[in-house]
Amino acid sequence: MSKAIRIHAQGGPGVLSYEEVAVDAPGPGEIRVRQTAVGLNYIDTYHRSGLYPLPNLPSGIGLEAAGVVEAVGDGVANLKVGQRIAYGAGPLGAYAEERNLPASKVVPLPDSIGDQQAAAMMLQGMTVEYLIRRTYPVSAGETVLFHAAAGGVGLIACQWLNHLGVTVIGTVGSEEKAELAAAHGCHHTINYRTENVPEKVAALTDGVGVPVVYDGVGRDTFHASLDCLQRRGLMVSFGNASGPPPDINPAILTQKGSLFLTRPTLMDYVATEQEMRNCAAALFEVVGSGAVQIRVNQTYALAEAQQAHEDLEGRKTTGSTVLIP
Ligand SMILES: NC(=O)c1ccc[n+]([C@@H]2O[C@H](COP(=O)([O-])OP(=O)(O)OC[C@H]3O[C@@H](n4cnc5c(N)ncnc54)[C@H](OP(=O)(O)O)[C@@H]3O)[C@@H](O)[C@H]2O)c1
Repeated sequence: MSKAIRIHAQGGPGVLSYEEVAVDAPGPGEIRVRQTAVGLNYIDTYHRSGLYPLPNLPSGIGLEAAGVVEAVGDGVANLKVGQRIAYGAGPLGAYAEERNLPASKVVPLPDSIGDQQAAAMMLQGMTVEYLIRRTYPVSAGETVLFHAAAGGVGLIACQWLNHLGVTVIGTVGSEEKAELAAAHGCHHTINYRTENVPEKVAALTDGVGVPVVYDGVGRDTFHASLDCLQRRGLMVSFGNASGPPPDINPAILTQKGSLFLTRPTLMDYVATEQEMRNCAAALFEVVGSGAVQIRVNQTYALAEAQQAHEDLEGRKTTGSTVLIP
């Protein structure tokens, strides 16, 4: 038997239950992993709360971890017992000491990337890869707006955008977070609790606006984000940290300058094994070169997942967080 967090009903952090679970031998195409670090992500709170429905209850939770291969099932040729691996796009059930998952969902870890670092970066880092290279491929010299710049996705985005020669305007909820974002390559910070974001963006862009806004905050920022875009700009609404974005009439996109709107998810950008491997390889390259540094700003024991969720939803965390089984 081993330990895992399970949920029997969706709701507040109290539904996260630390339990004994049996882990079978891996099936065909699967590996069993002893996990050493589990990534905490905002999407875990949506799976827990019910904002995102789950196919079956009770259910495991969590999409990201690093660890060591303990056993391989039939047909797995590319991984060996003892090999270090990580994953960041599920399947659900990462909050666990041990688990089985498809070999096609994991990547081998280079020696240069530690387990905690891997668990801190796979989901958030692959997200940054697809947002800035594939959803709206940024170009050197452009200025973009990235919300929650001191968060997990945010700190990776600031560094990667900076590395690509892009000027980053980042929103933050406090002075400390502004300093942290600036130290990670965010050129201009806006405290969206106290400042008018469209006015500041206009001032920083000679009144033109930005070609793209990356908005993972959702409800509280959605309309202001549209007001920060230049004509024919792209609104990338990729999360709901403050709640889901409002329903909109498409005519608003016309009124604000023939804007484009997309609501992407990582799962559609790493939908095939090859896409996932390419995405992870691009992340490993910028981390390996030192252009993007991954620091784990918070760690919790896996058994303390409730507290970790409360702190993440309470805006108490910065950067990436890992749970230690
Ligand atoms: N679509 C995708 O493929 C994808 C993939 C990964 C992540 N995401 C989304 O990206 C966003 C960031 O994810 P993350 O895991 O890196 O989280 P995070 O940014 O570390 O945490 C969320 C941050 O949002 C800000 N925020 C603003 N208003 C908030 C509110 N009312 N309640 C809570 N937080 C609020 C807070 O920063 P301040 O205090 O500075 O405001 C908070 O720290 C989330 O919306 C997540 O769902 C989407």
